[in-house]
Amino acid sequence: MTTVLKIGGSEVTDKKRKLEFRYDSGAGMGPVKSAIDDYFRGDDVERYCREILEGMKDPSALILTHGAGAIPHYLVEETLAPPETVQAAAHYTNDVFCRIASECGLKVRGHDPAKIVRHTVNGFDWSGFLAEIERDRAEGFIPVAHGTLAPSDTGGPYGGCVVLSGDLVPVIEAAHYHTGRILFTSDQRGIYDKNPAEPGARLLEKITPRTDVSKYSIRGREKDVSGGPMGKVKLLQQAAGTQKISSFIFSALENGNLRKVLAGNLSVVGTTIADE
Ligand SMILES: Nc1ncnc2c1ncn2[C@@H]1O[C@H](COP(=O)(O)OP(=O)(O)O)[C@@H](O)[C@H]1O
Ligand SMILES: [Mg+2]
Repeated sequence: MTTVLKIGGSEVTDKKRKLEFRYDSGAGMGPVKSAIDDYFRGDDVERYCREILEGMKDPSALILTHGAGAIPHYLVEETLAPPETVQAAAHYTNDVFCRIASECGLKVRGHDPAKIVRHTVNGFDWSGFLAEIERDRAEGFIPVAHGTLAPSDTGGPYGGCVVLSGDLVPVIEAAHYHTGRILFTSDQRGIYDKNPAEPGARLLEKITPRTDVSKYSIRGREKDVSGGPMGKVKLLQQAAGTQKISSFIFSALENGNLRKVLAGNLSVVGTTIADE
C-alpha cells in the first residue's frame, strides 16, 4: 500500500527563528547554502527518518515531499532574487534532506519539480514528474520532491515562473496512486480556529468541504507565496470534495507522532479534512 507524506517546511527548517541572513545578488550561492545549512533542522529530520523506519513495515511504500523551508521562502517573498536562485535554494534544501535520509538508512531519491514540471496554459503538466516517481518505485526508491518555482508558458510573475506549492505535490501523487489519504506534518497539532500562538485557540479535529473556514483566522506569515495554512486547507477541502482524497494534519515535532501515525496508531491528535 502506498503512503503519501508531506513534511512541512517548518519541520525541515526553522521558519520561526529570526532571519539573520540577507540575500546579496553579487555573492553567489555560497552564502545561500550556508544559510540553509544554518536553518536546517537536521536533528529533527534525522528523527523523522528513524520514525519512518520504525513505523513502516515497508518504507519503500512511501512517497515523500517536503516544504521548501525558510530560505527559499524568504528569497521569493522578500528579495528580488532571480527564479534560478530560488530554485537552486529549494534544490539544495532537498539535497540536504536526502543526504540525511540516506545516512539514516532510507533509500531515497530527490526530485526537483522545477526541472520536470512545467506550467502551461492548461495548468501544471505532471507527466514527466509522475514518470520519474513510477521509475523510482519500480526500483525500490522513495521519491522525495519539494515545493519550488516552476517555469511557466504563461509568463509567470516570478521571472517567468509560478509558485509550485509543496502542498500540491502530494495531492497529485495521491490521485495518481489512488491512495485516498495524505499525511501532512505541521509544527502545530493541526489547524486551529485561530492562530495557535493565541490563548484559547481550539484544534479543529474535522473539516469537510462544506466547512466555512473563512470564519476562522488561519493565517500564516504575511507574504507566504504558497498560500500558508489557509491555502493548504482550501486545497485539501477541494481534494476531499472532488477527488475523495482525505488528509490528516498532525505535529511531527512531538516525539513519536510520525512513527505512531505511520504504524496506524489512532491515538495522535490532528485535523482530518475529509468528505464524510
Ligand atoms: N489557525 C491556524 N491553524 C494552524 N496553523 C496556523 C493557524 N494560523 C496560523 N498558523 C501558522 O501556520 C503555520 C503553518 O503554515 P503552513 O504553510 O501550513 O506550513 P509549512 O509551509 O511550513 O508546511 C503554523 O506554523 C502556524 O504557526
Ligand atoms: Mg506552507
